[in-house]
Amino acid sequence: MIGKLNHVAIATPDVVAAAAIYYDTLGATVSEPIALPDHGVTVVFVELPNTKIELLEPLGANSPIQKFIDNNPSGGMHHVCYEVEDITVARDALLAGGAKILGDGAPRLGAHNKPVIFLHPKDFSGTLIELEQAS
Ligand code: CO
Repeated sequence: MIGKLNHVAIATPDVVAAAAIYYDTLGATVSEPIALPDHGVTVVFVELPNTKIELLEPLGANSPIQKFIDNNPSGGMHHVCYEVEDITVARDALLAGGAKILGDGAPRLGAHNKPVIFLHPKDFSGTLIELEQAS
């Protein structure tokens, strides 16, 4: 079902400082910080030859990653995102297999304006998984 690793998301209390480490110390190509108020995050994209890292900082009062930062004040790996061909087919197969989809289960537009769902970490070795329809 799953295809390419689309990105790994790392939550951080300070996306500018995190981006500087990726740029200065690790020599990676990084974007400017991009505010995504609808998603409650400011993101910096780190472009790697085979995938992306997304550095996420909470934005606004209802950020979905604020609790994660409260529990992990220095930041940490928040989720991994795998590509799927058809998000609805993937969702239905996962539900049939007993997996728990976060929210109401309906795909919604993610940070890349493509449909995504999130899978509960308890079913996947404690890792929050995002599935994104690749095209
Ligand atoms: Co993501």
